[in-house]
Amino acid sequence: MPVLSGSRTLYRLIYSSRQQIPPADLEHEVGAIIRASIRNNRDVAITGLLLVYEGYFLQALEGPAEAVVTTYRRILDDTRHEGAKVLIAGPAATREFADWNMCARRMTPGDDAILDTLNARKLFQPETFSGPAALRLLKVVRAIQDRTQTALPG
Ligand SMILES: Cc1cc2nc3c(=O)[nH]c(=O)nc-3n(C[C@H](O)[C@H](O)[C@H](O)COP(=O)(O)O)c2cc1C
Repeated sequence: MPVLSGSRTLYRLIYSSRQQIPPADLEHEVGAIIRASIRNNRDVAITGLLLVYEGYFLQALEGPAEAVVTTYRRILDDTRHEGAKVLIAGPAATREFADWNMCARRMTPGDDAILDTLNARKLFQPETFSGPAALRLLKVVRAIQDRTQTALPG
């Protein structure tokens, strides 16, 4: 018997998409996305991280496979973004974003030093990232978030 089987298998999906939100509404809309995410993801054991940067979203979703796929399908229908491209989808050994009930990070100029080290600053086009590169970037973002924000109560 495999240790992990069926619906217990942990899945990770990372996708990028382009924001379709007027700049003046971005803060409000991202807030609404986060509130919906916290409400829904908790119920289906999904964790992850949403990066909001330079007109793009880059999001990791982790959890039971069926929940990840169902959630991603719902997100795909959302008109606040377009051009979604899956960069990684498959089983994962552990949660990389276990502490984050879909916190969002809006990268600021102060974060650019970190993006520089990833060679991502000059041309931030996440749809061109390899899966491992996207995961690496989100892990760096998580580390920044870890230092600068308090986790939402679980
Ligand atoms: C970039 C992006 C990421 C999103 N991430 C999530 C998510 O992780 N979980 C979620 O439930 N909804 C997410 N949403 C919102 C969904 O598209 C949808 O509006 C929401 O799930 C509806 O929830 P409700 O029926 O509870 O209002 C996201 C939307 C966008 C544009």
